[in-house]
Amino acid sequence: MRQGTYVIRSNEPLNVVYHRMILEGDTSAITAPGQFVNIKLESFPLRRPMSIHDWDESGFCVIYKPVGRGTEYMTALPAGTALDVLCGLGNGYSLPEGVRRPLLLGGGSGCAPLYALAKACVGKGVKPTAVLGYNTKDEVYGEDLFARLGLETYVTTADGSYGRAGFVTDVMSELEYDYFFTCGPMPMYRAIERTARTSGQYSFEERMGCGFGACMGCSVMTKSGPRRVCKDGPVFRREEILWPTQA
Ligand SMILES: Cc1cc2nc3c(=O)[nH]c(=O)nc-3n(C[C@H](O)[C@H](O)[C@H](O)COP(=O)(O)OP(=O)(O)OC[C@H]3O[C@@H](n4cnc5c(N)ncnc54)[C@H](O)[C@@H]3O)c2cc1C
Ligand code: FES
Repeated sequence: MRQGTYVIRSNEPLNVVYHRMILEGDTSAITAPGQFVNIKLESFPLRRPMSIHDWDESGFCVIYKPVGRGTEYMTALPAGTALDVLCGLGNGYSLPEGVRRPLLLGGGSGCAPLYALAKACVGKGVKPTAVLGYNTKDEVYGEDLFARLGLETYVTTADGSYGRAGFVTDVMSELEYDYFFTCGPMPMYRAIERTARTSGQYSFEERMGCGFGACMGCSVMTKSGPRRVCKDGPVFRREEILWPTQA
C-alpha cells in the first residue's frame, strides 16, 4: 500500500449513470487486479474506496456511480485536482493453476475491476468469457473493452432494454466454464451461489472505515472466523466464505 498525491487527468461521465476518473501518480503498489484505492475527499472524514479498473506505470482509472454525498462530490472535481489516495489496497484476484475457461461475472460498478482481471488473464494465455449485468441500457459500459480483448462478451439488463433480458446467472447457467470470478452486489452473489458449478472468487464491496485493517469495520464471516474486507480481501475464495444463512 502506498499513500500519496494523485492528480486527476480526466473525470468524465461514461454514460448517464457512471463516471470515469483517471488519476496520475505512482502505481508501484498495485500488484493484482481486484485491488482498490481509498480516496480522501476534502471535508469528508472517511475515505471512499474504489476498485481499480485499469492501471499502467503512469496512473490508474476508476469507474464510479454517484450514490451519495461523497461520490456526488467526486463528479465535480476538475482535471488537475490533487487527491490524497491510499493506492494498491487489499488482496486481488489470482488465476489458479490449470484454469482455462473462467467466467467473469460483473454487476454494475462491479464490472470495473473485472477488466483489469481480463487483461491479466489474456496476458497469461487464458481467455475468459465476460458476462456483464446492468439494470438498464443507460448503465451499460465496458462491453467494447472486453470485446476488444477478444473475449466472448455477454450483456444482460434486468429490464431487457439491452442485450439479454435477465441476470448474469441466466447466462452463467448456459455456459461451460471451469472457474468464475465475480464482483457485484449481494443479491447477485446469492444467485451465483445457487447457480455456480465450480470454485470461484468473490470480491466484496462492503462499507469501510479506515480501509487498511485497523478498525474491523468491514468484516465478513469466513470458515476461519471474521476477516477484514479491506486487508484480507476484498477478494475471497468461494470455499472460504460463510454466507449469512450459514453463519
Ligand atoms: C473495495 C471496494 C471497492 C469499491 N469499488 C467501487 C467502484 O469501483 N465503483 C463504485 O461506484 N463504487 C465502488 N465501491 C462503493 C463506493 O465506495 C461507495 O459507493 C461510496 O463509498 C459511497 O460514498 P458516498 O459518500 O457517495 O455515499 P454515502 O453517502 O456514504 O452513501 C450513500 C448510499 O450508498 C450506500 N453505500 C455506501 N457505501 C457503499 C458500499 N461500499 N457498498 C454499497 N453501498 C454503499 C449507502 O448505504 C447509502 O445508501 C467500492 C466499495 C468498496 C468497499
Ligand atoms: S475498514 Fe477498517 S479494518 Fe477494514
